[in-house]
Amino acid sequence: MIYPIHVYGMPVLRKVAEDFAEDFEGLDELITDMYETMYQGDGIGLAAPQIGKSIRIIVVDGTRVDDDDEEQTELHDFKKVFINPHTVHEEGEEWEFNEGCLSIPNIREDVKRKSNLRLEYLDEDFNFFEEEFTGVKARILQHEVDHLNGILFTDRISPIRKRLLNAKLKAISKGNTDVKYKIRFPRK
Ligand code: NI
Repeated sequence: MIYPIHVYGMPVLRKVAEDFAEDFEGLDELITDMYETMYQGDGIGLAAPQIGKSIRIIVVDGTRVDDDDEEQTELHDFKKVFINPHTVHEEGEEWEFNEGCLSIPNIREDVKRKSNLRLEYLDEDFNFFEEEFTGVKARILQHEVDHLNGILFTDRISPIRKRLLNAKLKAISKGNTDVKYKIRFPRK
């Protein structure tokens, strides 16, 4: 089942999502649905709040990206489910990367983040991992973990840039954006 993507302005995107336990019902189906929904929007990462669920789960799939540059090639083994992910720490130099988000259609901005992410998480069988990520993998996960903490990439750009985007963000929150996937936006 493909879910509508909850876009900028939906309160669920601003909530801190909750951990959940192994007896969570319908997990396999949820994972399948999250992948399908993500593919529909041509995304490489999706967090549950983006489909209206305030729980800590992320799916990523970088295996379909074009390999026209090195940064992308490193993603070719990167298909993974992250359950109850939490940042242990971030370190290293900050670097800029042009980010986009299915919840903020047709907007891309350079965002500065640290190069290394240490993340603890469970896989879909609830095995515990603590793992260090770098490069674009770290970047994708930082963006998605932000979603679980109620943070959007537009929160991480300068106030001036943000002010310039204001009208576009407002339009998105009214459903006025040109996308080929289904979206859900706040009702007036
Ligand atoms: Ni996003």
